Amino acid sequence: MIALLPGDGIGPEVVAEARRVLETVCGDALAFEEGAVGYSAYEAGGHPLPDATLDLARRADAILFGAVGDPRGDALPRGQRPEQAILGLRKHLGLFANLRPARLYPELADASALRPEVARRIDLVIVRELNGDVYFGEKGMRTTAAGRREGYDIMSYDEDQVAAIARVGFETARARGRRLCSIDKANVLETSQLWRDVVIEVAAGYPDVQLSHMLVDNAAMQLVRDPGQFDVIVTGNLFGDILSDQASMCAGSIGMLPSASLDASQKGLYEPIHGSAPDIAGQGKANPLATILSAAMLLRYSLGLSDEADRIERAVATALSHGARTPDIGGTTTTSAMGEAVLAAL
Ligand code: NAD
Ligand code: IPM
Ligand code: MN
Repeated sequence: MIALLPGDGIGPEVVAEARRVLETVCGDALAFEEGAVGYSAYEAGGHPLPDATLDLARRADAILFGAVGDPRGDALPRGQRPEQAILGLRKHLGLFANLRPARLYPELADASALRPEVARRIDLVIVRELNGDVYFGEKGMRTTAAGRREGYDIMSYDEDQVAAIARVGFETARARGRRLCSIDKANVLETSQLWRDVVIEVAAGYPDVQLSHMLVDNAAMQLVRDPGQFDVIVTGNLFGDILSDQASMCAGSIGMLPSASLDASQKGLYEPIHGSAPDIAGQGKANPLATILSAAMLLRYSLGLSDEADRIERAVATALSHGARTPDIGGTTTTSAMGEAVLAAL
């Protein structure tokens, strides 16, 4: 059974298209159950991640997630904000390894923020740690001795967390171009120094993979200067969040990038890297391809259906080559018409 968690904003619009694609490719072989998450779940029952949804996610073979977030949620106490739904699912289910592939579909060379000859070279995977870092440390608001307000968020990683994500990075690189770049801020942060030390220790088990290290500020610059230099990137929760949005624009649009969040046994939650996009919600403008490509990753990683996953990825390329373009990639195709273009290609 696949749990569908559409969420807020454009989440339901893009998940609906991905569901149609899954139904077309797999027919009756897949069963779906839908659950509430995010602001809509909060409105209905007072919590962004209801127990029933968490239970559904635990029972599912895999989870397809849309997006959460609503401007009305921004004033709520942090524990009730819509974003807690996705953070809670990642933590409760032990989904520590987030794979965010970014590559340019040749048809979209003009949609990239980069010159086509630079953009064309982008084909990388960001392996982002999801269960630690400044996201999950102690945080709060307090008053200083001088009576001033102070906000704080503790950044930390323990060595087991770093070793676990480093192994995913090395394994991912081993299955691709055998080059791994670890991104940190070891020149300033102790958290990053431990990160770098542990990545180097883990590297001893992967002599066939070429390891390099880069400071995150330089990495942000290199991603737009020459994204083709990267094969696999491994990095922490916060840096990975920021760099993956940046990589998406090098590859054409944030509406194009899928992701897989995996636990230690390949159980996974699959979601586009983008958010609920309240600015375009309900207007038929959302690009559903990131979610459709996330559904392909779901078939490949959690259900072992790689032929079906390949079919979906080829159908996306065909739809693009036939000229289907939502506004974010320079056209006027609607969300559902983009879904139909993929279905037609299937
Ligand atoms: P966002 O990703 O929602 O949107 C950023 C920009 O990209 C907007 O202009 C939006 O219109 C555009 N965009 C995003 N997805 C698109 C798509 N599929 N097609 C076309 N255009 C698209 O980021 P934001 O505006 O910073 O955040 C909005 C809300 O989403 C916030 O509440 C945030 O917390 C939440 N958020 C949730 C997730 C998630 O659920 N995993 C991820 C990121 C942000
Ligand atoms: C993402 C999002 C989330 C994150 C938010 C909504 C908690 O930006 O999945 O990239 O920061 O991880
Ligand atoms: Mn993000």
